Amino acid sequence: MKTVLLKDVSLHLGEKIKLQGWVRNYRKASSKLRFVIFRDGTGFIQAVASKPDMGEENFEKVKLLTIESSLEMIGTAQKHPSRENEYEFLLEDINIINIAPEYPISKKEHGPEFLLNMRHLWLRAPRQNAIMKIRHTCYYAVMEYLESQNFYRFDSPILTPTACEGTTTLFEVPYFDEGSAYLSQSGQLYLEPGIMSLGRVYDFGPVFRAEKSKTRKHLTEFWMMDAEAAFVEHEENMQIQEGLIRHIIRKVIEKNLTELEVLERDVEKLKKADAPFRKITHRQAIDLLKEKGFEIGYEDDFGAQEEVALTEDSDIPLFIEKWPKQIKAFYMKLDSENPDVVLGADLISPEGFGEIIGGSQREDDYDLLLERMKRDNMPLEEYEWYLDLRKYGSVPHSGFGIGFERIVAWMSGTHHIRECIPFPRMINRLKP
Ligand code: 4AD
Ligand code: MG
Repeated sequence: MKTVLLKDVSLHLGEKIKLQGWVRNYRKASSKLRFVIFRDGTGFIQAVASKPDMGEENFEKVKLLTIESSLEMIGTAQKHPSRENEYEFLLEDINIINIAPEYPISKKEHGPEFLLNMRHLWLRAPRQNAIMKIRHTCYYAVMEYLESQNFYRFDSPILTPTACEGTTTLFEVPYFDEGSAYLSQSGQLYLEPGIMSLGRVYDFGPVFRAEKSKTRKHLTEFWMMDAEAAFVEHEENMQIQEGLIRHIIRKVIEKNLTELEVLERDVEKLKKADAPFRKITHRQAIDLLKEKGFEIGYEDDFGAQEEVALTEDSDIPLFIEKWPKQIKAFYMKLDSENPDVVLGADLISPEGFGEIIGGSQREDDYDLLLERMKRDNMPLEEYEWYLDLRKYGSVPHSGFGIGFERIVAWMSGTHHIRECIPFPRMINRLKP
């Protein structure tokens, strides 16, 4: 007898097969008939337990099942009598593996704190299952696209001696005789040596920011994909980002229609985003905000409200480029046409999911970079290796970093990114 995954059940209709999984729910129809909603991670099916068909002894075993009990089911799958594209499972026998005591998560509304405390169990809920599958697709799509663009995977360290993105959000860890290490905020600085060897590289892993903000877009541990490419300048950098995001959208639509339906995600909105991205300068964005009644200056950064105001008129992502150098990182290259701004862009998602990518062309001139590092009072001896890259075969180069959970939140239409990572870490949450 074959053990079959529910996602493949349509290939085995009428065959005697075995399924392995958990009880999502059950329903007593009569003293002789029970329905078990069964899941195995790849899908759901309704199993029909009929006393006359199974025999008294086997039917008694079905009566022991509780929500989230684990078991093997033996029987045959067939087309659901009334629902299109659905199947049902006619039970012959079951092997009980574990009978679960009363399950703490019920159908009634639970508050987010309760569910987050129960994250280890909450992950089994259909919505959470769907979000994790979409996360998986996004991950795969990133790899696939970067492979097609000749990027090599090049992993950056997590324990680092210095900051990449400013010192205000660094997590400090005691580190033997060296004093302190810091958890990486982005692998970017370490990708830059990588391109001098491999041309184009990317990393993908957890990064850490001691964010004090309690917003729906901030985690203290999140996943970032940083990419870096030699001989790529600002414009091409944005083209690569656009290609990548549009590839992710297509893959999610191709692979996750079932999950998008579970999540009640408006797929049309995603389809509309798969179009040439919009682009404005930071200055134009400020003008637009002023027109909309915001009190904002030409050297200000944007908060959530500003991001929404800038993107509410369209379903297509928006690049905001050429930021005032004062409010961007030391490594961003100055625009030769206007040295007050940098050749950097943030990509803002539609539908209020915020900034999903930060990227820029990098300063490749030794003297200019040194000057900017001095301006920021950076400990130069710690960054000597980084400056070396501007001495030995410096080339124009660019890169960007994706906030992975924000992409997943956008694709899945999930309001808060804490549901877009298996175990979220936030200012007030470290468990489970
Ligand atoms: O814009 P950021 O800070 O850029 C960098 O770290 C660059 N070094 C990346 C690079 O060029 N290789 O961060 C990149 C993205 C943001 O656009 C945002 O989507 C996400 O990371 N992000 C967060 N996501 C969740 N929680 C947080 N606290 C985040 N902070 C940034
Ligand atoms: Mg940013």
